[in-house]
Parts: sequence; structure tokens; C-alpha cells
Amino acid sequence: MIPENWKQQGFADAPIPADIDLKAEIRRLCREKEAIIMAHYYTAGEVQDVADFVGDSLALAQHAAGTDAKIIVMCGVHFMGETNKILCPDKKVLIPDLNATCSLAESCPAADFAAFVKAHPGHKVISYVNTSAAVKAVTDVVVTSGNAREIVESFPVDQPLIFGPDRNLGAHINSVTGRQMVLWDGACHVHERFSVEKLVELKHQYPAAKVLVHPECRGAVVKLADVVGSTAKLLQYAVASQAESFLVVTESGILHEMQRRAPGKQFIPVPPDDSTCACNECNFMRLITLGKLYNTLRYEWPEVEVPADVAQAALRPIRAMLDLSKRLTRG
Ligand code: 13P
Ligand code: SF4
Repeated sequence: MIPENWKQQGFADAPIPADIDLKAEIRRLCREKEAIIMAHYYTAGEVQDVADFVGDSLALAQHAAGTDAKIIVMCGVHFMGETNKILCPDKKVLIPDLNATCSLAESCPAADFAAFVKAHPGHKVISYVNTSAAVKAVTDVVVTSGNAREIVESFPVDQPLIFGPDRNLGAHINSVTGRQMVLWDGACHVHERFSVEKLVELKHQYPAAKVLVHPECRGAVVKLADVVGSTAKLLQYAVASQAESFLVVTESGILHEMQRRAPGKQFIPVPPDDSTCACNECNFMRLITLGKLYNTLRYEWPEVEVPADVAQAALRPIRAMLDLSKRLTRG
């Protein structure tokens, strides 16, 4: 029985024994329960270090679709857990803290989005993966920042398109494809906090640094980028590039994997414009801690649930994305 106060808090709030090696215990529980831990690049470094698989949103969905584990523990935000549950309805999908939501997904309430879709007859609906299952259920194809451009371009040029919920990513895709998708007016509070002023200041300080920008940032920030892309694309570029230093304009958790993969290079996190802290962190991703991960495995709770009818409707556009992505990368 899960105690009432845990349910209210949204995570398993059991004390962590002081004398255990937490990482070793987490790995032991994974073996015992045939569980895998998947983590997004924005989670804390120690969470990424204990995971079986770390990736961007696209890779996480692809990995979930192919796993034979009995339990998936999603160290990331809630929509990522939902995507896994939709792809693997027979598996137990756990998330260490149910409060790990996403401001971008929240900026698009399902009922309002359904009304928006209805108000644009004849439009195909493209939704960013950072949406609730209920929004995906009224979508034709889901995209991530890793495949949005290719998927948008796969539609005939005269096909009217709706893109939601991120107005920044949508505007970026419109500008690189020449499309005029109708955009939902949503945004991520973390990426909107980057400012041109701070970035220009840092560019003067580090003139040789390449600027890596996630497309959830505002257009004026994206314009200053050397590379714009998903977390995986920014990481790949940083590792392969001849450059020695990089200004990183996305959530600072990604620096952990950048530093691990390219230890000799310098990665400078660009801070948010509205605070004195050095890094721009997603408060939702940071809710995922090693202690909560341990308790989640111990108690197999909290579980991610998606109502069957919503899951069934949301599976089609997620599958459409995975199929298109596979076809498009094969060329
Ligand atoms: P990626 O798909 O690039 O990993 O981005 C996920 C996300 O939440 C960005 O804020
Ligand atoms: Fe959502 Fe923004 Fe956090 Fe990404 S960084 S999970 S878009 S709130």
C-alpha cells in the first residue's frame, strides 16, 4: 500500500538508509527487477551516470520502443514517461517524481489545442513531443527537435500545417523550410530565459567559442548560433568539432555528457538573463534525484498511467514519427 502522504507529494518519500552505496543498490534493483533506467541529458550528472541509456527525446522514444525490460524507469519529465507508456503499454513505466512536468507541455492544454485544431480545417497537425498524451491524441505526427525539419519537409509544400506548442521551434522550422505553419503560442520557461545581451557579452569574452543553441530559444538568440539543434545534435557537434571552446545555450545538464565525451574541451554554460546563477537549469528535471530513483525502484512507484483511449489515439502520431524518422534517415 502506498501511503497517502506519498500520493500527495507525488514521490516515494521513504528514508534512504545512510549505510548503503546508493548507485550500487540502484543497479542491483535493476538487475533483480529486470528494469532499465533511461535518462535525459538534462538530468543531474549522477542520475545520468547510473542510467542504462541517456539520450535526447527522440533517442529515448526509440530506445523505449525496442526494449525488452519489464520495467522502464524514466528519469526525465512526465511527457517522456507518457511516451514510453504509450509505446510499451504492457510494461510498468515509473518516474521518480510525478511533479516533474514541463512548462512547454503545460503551455498547451489539451481542450484548447483541440479547439485550435478544429478552428483550422484542412490542416495537418504536427506536435512537438513536449506535449501531454491528450494533445498527441489530436495530432497527425509528433516531432522532436531532432527530426522536426525533415518531418515538416516530408509534407507537400501546399499542405497547410499547424505546429504546436513551441512558438520558437515552430518559427525556426518555418524560417529554415520556408513553410508558413500556423503556430501555437507556447514556450519553455528555461529556454526563454536566455537573452541576446548575455550571449553577446560572452561571445566578446570567448571570441573563439562556437555557439550551440537549442531551437526552443527565442529567434534573436537562435540567430547568434553556429549550430542549432536537439541536445543530441549539439553534443555530436561539440565532440566532432575542431573548436576547443563552446558557449552552451540550453539546459546546463547537457554539459555533463559534453565534458565526459570531450574532456579536453571547454564548455561554458550561458546563464539565464534574470538571475545571478551561473547555469540555466530546468527545475522539473532537477526533481529527479538518486534518492527518489532508488525509492522508485524499491516500491515500483510512482507509475505513469495513460487512459487506454488516449494512449491508443496518441500511439498513431508517435509511431508515425518513428517510422518517418527511420525512413528519412535511411535517405
Ligand atoms: P531534446 O529533444 O533536444 O533532448 O530536448 C528536450 C527538451 O525538453 C528541450 O527542452
Ligand atoms: Fe520542458 Fe523546458 Fe524543462 Fe525541456 S527544459 S523539460 S522544454 S521545461
